[in-house]
Amino acid sequence: MNTALKKAIVYIVVFLLGLGIGVVAIWDFGGRSSSGASSASQTSSSTASSSPSAAPAQAARAFDKPQHTGNDSKRVFLNASKNKDGNTASLAKQLFDGQSYRQIDLVDYHIPQTGQGEGDFAKVWDQLKGADVIVIGTPVYWSNMSGYLKTFIDNVEINDDLKAADLYLIVQGADADQTNAINSTYGTMNRIAKRFSLNFVGIGQTSDQIKQLHQTMIGK
Ligand SMILES: Cc1cc2nc3c(=O)[nH]c(=O)nc-3n(C[C@H](O)[C@H](O)[C@H](O)COP(=O)(O)O)c2cc1C
Repeated sequence: MNTALKKAIVYIVVFLLGLGIGVVAIWDFGGRSSSGASSASQTSSSTASSSPSAAPAQAARAFDKPQHTGNDSKRVFLNASKNKDGNTASLAKQLFDGQSYRQIDLVDYHIPQTGQGEGDFAKVWDQLKGADVIVIGTPVYWSNMSGYLKTFIDNVEINDDLKAADLYLIVQGADADQTNAINSTYGTMNRIAKRFSLNFVGIGQTSDQIKQLHQTMIGK
């Protein structure tokens, strides 16, 4: 075999090796891209499949008509915020809009976890007894109601003390989307409303919703 022929064979082998490496690289890149695209579509399809399941939960929210829209109603606001004069209290003020009410600030009371004694629970409960209109307001803490409210609720025992009162709920936080907090708080409050025979009239998160709720509260 002469030198020229040997060189030609070496060139062909090198060319074929290079071609092979190129083909593998293109194939691999294409494969990764298409697997990226498929995971994106899985994400969007899982989002799409989670939306319908979120929608019925919202659609399933049902509220009662208020039964106490008159001027002589006894109105109470249970404030489950650490701030007596914060955003929760401010929305409650807007909800009553000039009507008289008593504000109970849970931050003023020491209510232990259930099983750790009664603490001030009865002092708070006694102020709710006989109310016609109860507004419960909670800031959103970690996408849920505040611990003040949950601890208070965990201490309640089923009785007729609040029977037939109208219940309004304020759930407000810093984020625009409060779907999780509102869904979970609605679920808890709906159960409470049923067990205590309350009329669960509505939930407000924003000023606009609170204005609408006020109209409901005064029977309009
Ligand atoms: C412990 C803690 C947790 C919070 N977590 C959330 C949250 O998960 N989502 C949200 O939107 N805001 C959250 N916030 C913000 C409050 O909900 C918000 O500032 C609210 O307006 C406070 O109400 P207030 O003025 O009645 O205290 C949190 C605040 C605190 C103190």
